[in-house]
Amino acid sequence: MVTKEQVLEALRDVEDPEVHKSIVELDMVRDIEISGSTVSVKVLLTITGCPLRTVIEKSVSDKLLALPGVEQAYVEIGTMSDEERAKFASKLRGREEPQSPPALLRPDAGVEFLAVASGKGGVGKSTVTANLAKALANEGLRVGVIDADIYGFSIPGIFGVKETRPTVIDELIIPIEVDNVKLISMHFFVPNNNPVVWRGPMLGKMLRNFFAEVHWGDVDVVLLDLPPGTGDIAMDVHQLLPKSKELIVTTPQTNAADVAVRAGVMGQRTNHEIIGVVENMSYFECGSCGEKAYLFGRGGGNQVASALNVSVLAQVPIASMDEQQNGLFAPQTPQGKAFKALAQAVIPALGLAVQA
Ligand SMILES: Nc1ncnc2c1ncn2[C@@H]1O[C@H](COP(=O)(O)OP(=O)(O)O)[C@@H](O)[C@H]1O
Ligand SMILES: [Mg+2]
Repeated sequence: MVTKEQVLEALRDVEDPEVHKSIVELDMVRDIEISGSTVSVKVLLTITGCPLRTVIEKSVSDKLLALPGVEQAYVEIGTMSDEERAKFASKLRGREEPQSPPALLRPDAGVEFLAVASGKGGVGKSTVTANLAKALANEGLRVGVIDADIYGFSIPGIFGVKETRPTVIDELIIPIEVDNVKLISMHFFVPNNNPVVWRGPMLGKMLRNFFAEVHWGDVDVVLLDLPPGTGDIAMDVHQLLPKSKELIVTTPQTNAADVAVRAGVMGQRTNHEIIGVVENMSYFECGSCGEKAYLFGRGGGNQVASALNVSVLAQVPIASMDEQQNGLFAPQTPQGKAFKALAQAVIPALGLAVQA
């Protein structure tokens, strides 16, 4: 006959599909009963009607049946009480003392932050953030994205998850995961797309919550889509993430470039290392003739890079409408290739390495 310890050991590999942690470690396995070749267990889920219940049910049952001598396995699915859910959430937070900093911000968390900034809006800051995140994930990194452009949140739209809402367990928010990228955005917390009118301090508080109240799990890098300009939020980010690095996005136009330089100087003043410049909408390449048309002029990227003493890490061509899905470019498109190259330049610049 198997023992309770063997059963727990076997179930240790089963992860909660949402929070990616062992159901044994999360104390979700209860009431183990063994009688001869029959094992029954109860698994407590956080919410009733959890859409993932069948996934858990099946993996638990498979693990039990793989144990020597077990011929029948019964898995009962239950729901946590409020008290149990609160315990579960504090386990996820990994915070014994309430005053300790959020896991993501601890120096030993080993997470790199990259803020994506621009002077003007509409230059493609969010497009760059989203496509870079996807490209970094394609290189094997565990990536998070914080849509900190609290007025103009567009990250969920680019990833096609505008209608999805994150699971919230006892005030702990589980990020939405798309293509291996974990997303959190103000959009998820605004009912019916109502315009947000926030005062400065509220914005900073919201941003802080994105670190403290979100279960990020293990991530290597977190990208932040900053609001355009050089204002309050940028200051908040600088205060909250003193070690964040920064990527500046501009278009080839001189007026966009001028404002981008100011955003970059602001970053440098607060000791944020600027790792480079992305020139977006650099040119349009005619498919049949291969000629480049510089629809928005030339030189903006270089202008910003030389003013900030860094280099242009990528020039992203203008895409036609049918080349983008929402705003994500397929890997084989010229834009997709530009983002792959950008990811490969960003990884060493952040001091990260890709596991072979
Ligand atoms: N390389 C590109 N080619 C074509 N359209 C682009 C490109 N980059 C961005 N866009 C489009 O330009 C608009 C503004 O981009 P967005 O990323 O929202 O800018 P920002 O975040 O700086 O305001 C969006 O409609 C986006 O789809
Ligand atoms: Mg944007």
